[in-house]
Amino acid sequence: MLSFTKLLSFVLLAVSAGATPLAPNAKHATHRKRVIGRGLEVETYHPSVSYQDGIDFVNAVANVAFKDNKVVALGSSLVDASNIADSTPSIAVEDVIADVEEKLDGKFNGYKSVSYLARDDGSIALTHAIQIQNEDVNSWYEAFVDAHTGELINVIDFVNDLSYRVLPIWKQQPSEGIELLVNPEITAASPNGWVTSNTTAGNNVVAYKSSQSAVTTGFDYTYSTSAAPSTTNNLNAARVNSFYIINAYHDILYLYGFTEAAYNFQTNNFGKGGAANDRVLMSVQDSSGTNNANFATPPDGQSGTCRMYIWTYTSPNRDGDLENDIPVHEVTHGLTNRVTGGGTGRCLQTTEAGGMGEGWSDALAFWTEQTTGTVKDFTMGSWVVNDAAGIRSYPYSTSASTNPLRYSTIASLNEVHAIGEVWANLLINVYAALIAEHGFSTTARTNASGSEGNVVWLRLLVDALALQPCNPTLPTARDAWIQADQNRYAGANKCLLWKAFASRGLGVGAANHVDSTAVPSGC
Ligand SMILES: *[C@@H]1O[C@H](CO)[C@@H](O)[C@H](O)[C@H]1NC(C)=O
Ligand SMILES: *[C@@H]1O[C@H](CO)[C@@H](O)[C@H](O)[C@H]1NC(C)=O
Ligand SMILES: [Zn+2]
Repeated sequence: MLSFTKLLSFVLLAVSAGATPLAPNAKHATHRKRVIGRGLEVETYHPSVSYQDGIDFVNAVANVAFKDNKVVALGSSLVDASNIADSTPSIAVEDVIADVEEKLDGKFNGYKSVSYLARDDGSIALTHAIQIQNEDVNSWYEAFVDAHTGELINVIDFVNDLSYRVLPIWKQQPSEGIELLVNPEITAASPNGWVTSNTTAGNNVVAYKSSQSAVTTGFDYTYSTSAAPSTTNNLNAARVNSFYIINAYHDILYLYGFTEAAYNFQTNNFGKGGAANDRVLMSVQDSSGTNNANFATPPDGQSGTCRMYIWTYTSPNRDGDLENDIPVHEVTHGLTNRVTGGGTGRCLQTTEAGGMGEGWSDALAFWTEQTTGTVKDFTMGSWVVNDAAGIRSYPYSTSASTNPLRYSTIASLNEVHAIGEVWANLLINVYAALIAEHGFSTTARTNASGSEGNVVWLRLLVDALALQPCNPTLPTARDAWIQADQNRYAGANKCLLWKAFASRGLGVGAANHVDSTAVPSGC
């Protein structure tokens, strides 16, 4: 939730689908290593092997998990040789073409092959891969049809020329300039793109009004802030913007580790682990409330529902769908509830842990809106309430006179958003210290490989979510950051992190909401 004035909790639970190793799409990665869950290092690789009779795989091949340099798991869940289809098609390709042409509204262009495809349930299908084109509407697909059952089981869209008229995720509110973005999707995160038809219903999210079938067709509507949110044009623009933001967020966080195996939100998980059929349900201009927003995040495998409300402080009213820090705040509840505890349970349930949930959400809204290495004060929700001070007690700031919040402030707080302000401001101070040390990457939203401060910060944030205990406290969450830095950067930022946390009272001896400004010896 966004507002600090309401106490309803929509923080539900996240449960584990097991520590399933993951296998990225072979078309986008051949070798990859990461740490998931509690220090489990997963290495995925794609030897260019053929399984039976020289038939290639189109996606996952094999994966191995290491801990302390020992193999602890073989990813047999994905490549189950006992569950591999017979290599001789029982249905001829000629017999499936007409059906696929009809489904994809195009004509077979002559390109075909036979390949294996790993499915979400662990089985391996033998498929006819055929290309279907339609010159009139400029569509071009590769369809994968089960060569034994005739079922259409996957579609790859070769045409990636979709444009979205939106407020880019690095901007906060409409007066900063709505733009037409061309191909904003990140293929490594969304291999089939964001769109399955020409509407705001895709693999990562469906953005709708009232009913899930009430989506917008096309992605080019210009929001007018001088008209009511409810005008047809503004409603369309709102659905497109929220569709875009949830997708853009999905893709960024995917690069930083919020993948299928880390319990993210997708309809099709492409055989890469986690539970499928849980894209985000984005209810724009939801009529069940005003002046707020919320995101209910049930376990992996069940869609989370995000309700975006109209704000009534101005005339015409303003729509939370058009202030990007609001949907980013909400969808971050999905990240933190799903990743904390390795997806094993209700892990942000105590007041302090729920408060940190609000803090991460504000901190991600801050991160996505950074465009330079100058760390400026940041306010949440300032456009929807038409007040530069926004909806929190203080601007987020590295200045202790602008924002005096310290760890010990929590002693007198019992409301999650107020506690979240303390945690978010601590994290923003950590961010500023990392930027000062390592600089700023302008490509951090599309490339998580850099060594710059904003890349390091988001890496550590996501890694730490998976490392921290269920129902963390500020000190245990801080410890997870130190551990994440040890795991990923061999502790290169240890003293920097301690000093930044200690600067707001979360030093070595901090406990029971009593400050400590101490740092470890040697720092
Ligand atoms: C998508 O819908 C828009 C709006 O109706 C239309 O202008 C556009 O041509 C459509 N694009 C495709 C590829 O069908
Ligand atoms: C991502 O960043 C790394 C490190 O700066 C760089 O080596 C790599 O080329 C970048 N990748 C892309 C696709 O730009
Ligand atoms: Zn919230």
